[in-house]
Amino acid sequence: MPVREKKRVVVLFGGRSGEHEVSINSAASVMAALDRDKYEIIPVAITREGRWVAGITPEQAAGGLDPAVLSGTGGGAVTVILPPDPGWRGLTVPGNGDAGQIAGEIDVVFPVMHGTYGEDGTVQGLLELANIPYVGAGVLGSALGMDKVLMKTVLARHGVPQARFLSFLRREWETDPKTVIAETEKQLGYPCFIKPANLGSSVGISKARRREELVRGLELAAGYDRKIILEEFIDAREVEVSVLGNDDPMASLPGEIIPLKEFYDYEAKYVDGLSQLKVPAELPPDTVERLRELAIKVFKALDCAGMARVDFFLRRSDGAVLVNEINTIPGFTRFSMYPKLWEATGIGYRELLDRLIDLALERHRDKNRSKTTFDLPGK
Ligand SMILES: Nc1ncnc2c1ncn2[C@@H]1O[C@H](COP(=O)(O)OP(=O)(O)O)[C@@H](O)[C@H]1O
Ligand SMILES: [Mg+2]
Repeated sequence: MPVREKKRVVVLFGGRSGEHEVSINSAASVMAALDRDKYEIIPVAITREGRWVAGITPEQAAGGLDPAVLSGTGGGAVTVILPPDPGWRGLTVPGNGDAGQIAGEIDVVFPVMHGTYGEDGTVQGLLELANIPYVGAGVLGSALGMDKVLMKTVLARHGVPQARFLSFLRREWETDPKTVIAETEKQLGYPCFIKPANLGSSVGISKARRREELVRGLELAAGYDRKIILEEFIDAREVEVSVLGNDDPMASLPGEIIPLKEFYDYEAKYVDGLSQLKVPAELPPDTVERLRELAIKVFKALDCAGMARVDFFLRRSDGAVLVNEINTIPGFTRFSMYPKLWEATGIGYRELLDRLIDLALERHRDKNRSKTTFDLPGK
């Protein structure tokens, strides 16, 4: 078989997530920057309903998909599925059998998807079954990064400094609200933060200064998730570090978020002008070193791969560095923190994409080195 010169890269975007639009913006930047001399790029949009549509660009998807496109009958777009069969390794038009395969064997998938069904290990699980290399963390790292309770539990075990936290199931809140309130007041006090355990982009997050706000915040969060996390409020500067690599990752210089609102909520994140990024952050060298070390420690503790952005609080009262969270598929527009931090550290946007694709291939090779069968000794 002739060796194909260009790697065939599927850019997956959109998805069944509150961060659908954010993903489209990230994917538009990624698509625009991927080197066409090295890659053949196949964009695949996932609709809000979860349908996979090949052949439309993020720009087209941003305008909303018309019914002809959605049914795969118009606009050059076609509905596809990705079979879990590792012998297949390609997209196919459902119902057309072997003849339905489009575009041939995929070399690597770049899921540029944030939040549920994209960043949480589910799409990664499908790609594992199909044995296709993909950019970013695997099933476990993605799932751990998405669940703030398990993320913090694992980080605590590794001695990583964090805000004090508590968690409850929605069921506990609904059946025994008195205990939830009493425990929160006893262990955290006010102000505190209330969050759905598995969301992103600040959706469903609120700050409570007194009991009525706590009740409202718990109700809000319970509308989004069956698990809720509560944290002590940290009065802090917010700084972020980008991590790149697999088993021996490296960390970028830190950057600072300066929200002009009370906290870094959905609007502050995505409405232009409501927050500023300071890249690199102005910090003493020992703090920079501490942040970079901790970012790598967090990345490894959560079994990440490829990329992640680790977010920190720098407490104003004593300068303590606390880890807030990890994002395994961070915002990826040209103006997003993740690529901007690499730019400041000496890796440009396009080179960053090349490295991520190489890391995906490297990890896949490494995984396929491991045995999946066991030969009984002596046989
Ligand atoms: N414990 C806390 N103390 C102070 N501010 C917080 C705390 N937790 C979250 N925040 C604020 O809320 C924002 C969003 O919270 P975060 O946990 O990062 O959720 P998301 O995953 O949605 O980004 C943070 O960037 C910060 O501004
Ligand atoms: Mg955050």
